Amino acid sequence: MDIRFQQAPAADWRANTAIVFGFKDENLMEQIPALADAAPWITITPARHDFRGEKNQTVVMYGHPEIPLPRCIAVGLGERTKFNLDTLRGAMATAMQKCRELKVDTCALDLEVLKMIDESDAVLVEESVAAALLSLYTYDELKTTQDEPAHNPRWMALLSNEENFPDDLHAAARRGEAAAIGVMATRNLVNGPANIVTPAYLVEKAEAMGRKYGFKVRSINGPELAEMGMGAFESVFKGAEEQAKLLIMEYTPKGTENDDPIVFVGKGVTFDTGGISLKPSASMHEMKSDMAGAAAVIGLFEALGNSDIQRRVVGVAPCTENMPDGRATRPGDVVKTLSGKTVEIINTDAEGRLILCDALTWVQKEYTPAAIFDLATLTGACVVALGTEVAAVFATDEALSKQVQDLGGRVGDRFWPMPLWDLYFEPLKSEVADMMNVGGREGGAVNAALFLKQFINEDVRWAHLDIAGPAYKAKKSPLSVPGSTGFAVRTLLEIVRNGVAEKPE
Ligand code: BES
Ligand code: MN
Ligand code: ZN
Repeated sequence: MDIRFQQAPAADWRANTAIVFGFKDENLMEQIPALADAAPWITITPARHDFRGEKNQTVVMYGHPEIPLPRCIAVGLGERTKFNLDTLRGAMATAMQKCRELKVDTCALDLEVLKMIDESDAVLVEESVAAALLSLYTYDELKTTQDEPAHNPRWMALLSNEENFPDDLHAAARRGEAAAIGVMATRNLVNGPANIVTPAYLVEKAEAMGRKYGFKVRSINGPELAEMGMGAFESVFKGAEEQAKLLIMEYTPKGTENDDPIVFVGKGVTFDTGGISLKPSASMHEMKSDMAGAAAVIGLFEALGNSDIQRRVVGVAPCTENMPDGRATRPGDVVKTLSGKTVEIINTDAEGRLILCDALTWVQKEYTPAAIFDLATLTGACVVALGTEVAAVFATDEALSKQVQDLGGRVGDRFWPMPLWDLYFEPLKSEVADMMNVGGREGGAVNAALFLKQFINEDVRWAHLDIAGPAYKAKKSPLSVPGSTGFAVRTLLEIVRNGVAEKPE
């Protein structure tokens, strides 16, 4: 669906369907005076009396088919005092599903109601556009016999009767679009099955993006990574036939070459069988999503390519399968990480931390990060702790943690803080090496974070995001079909846009 702008006197607005939002127990007509001018039939259509503005209540109203705006979908926002951006995103998703059901060809969003909300117009427009696009997303690339393909509107116009379409709203709509494009790129990668989405495939996709948008993409192959001393990463890819890759993306707008980059590191396990510590088979197929961290970093770069953000960003993703094999790592094996520290691998299914620790060491040798954010579908324990709607944030300082929570919350990614206290390292202590790769079951998400912390240098600002819960969901939600959600892409984009929060004194 294209996003367009109609800047004209209301009488000249044109689309098959107008979309309006209204609050509960407030007069809809008073909230949309310009639309009532553009489509005067709305004021007399009996159906409008059915509209009470309850959350996601949907009423469709019809005028004469020859009229320039012959139909209107009204969606309720619920009580004004309870409004938040989730409400708006949900209402937009509801409107889009209705458009699809009615096979609406073109639609137009009346911004008048939004202007009466206590949020900046730009944010409301950005969120409306992003939500509209994300709620229409489907993954059907691999279906050859569909009953009927989903019918999406060809375009959605944003309506303004001011002299010119306000510049800031124009830019806001483009931001919403860029964010959605990034999220959808991530969803496509995560929903793709592991026989297609291999480490090589991720690198190819990233390279194609780099060519398209003009940023630098390179990769290092498994054998060279082993040679460089990444014994932990190697211990995971040893059992796989597919070549492992370290993917490196660099977004360096002119003039930022000497800035300290914001560094994002994403877990890219394209399939996690557990290795020799084999997983039970019941939901193993879902482990095609174990590269959701890497996919989020790649999606971020897709969004950056569609933006004009002037900040230096580095994205790194260690990518491999985790397979059982004659060459696979055995429980009890001890390996040497790139940092020099040794790890006793008790459980080969705790592979995420093994590939991440070497990637984290590498980015600290290669760059001087303003901050490092790693994101990973790291632990089932995190899902047990926080459920599937919320991700954990573990950060070296409050400001960083708060920034992730605040910015994430605004764009619909919920994060909750978890501790990085050293006492959680106790269970990781090994008899034969510097540490083990797992502790007990208790506090599993925190143990994993503490494992990673061993590889973060003094004074480096770092946040670890465990996205195992919300990255991939078997159930559908308003903004997402079952499968990948594209979680965290928008948060990362906001971090880049805002810059890393100042460190407190
Ligand atoms: N990729 C999994 C974590 C995961 C589980 C993500 C469920 C999404 C949904 C990770 O590699 C893993 O297997 N973790 C183990 C760690 C354990 C062996 C300490 C886990 O959570 O069971
Ligand atoms: Mn695993
Ligand atoms: Zn995993």
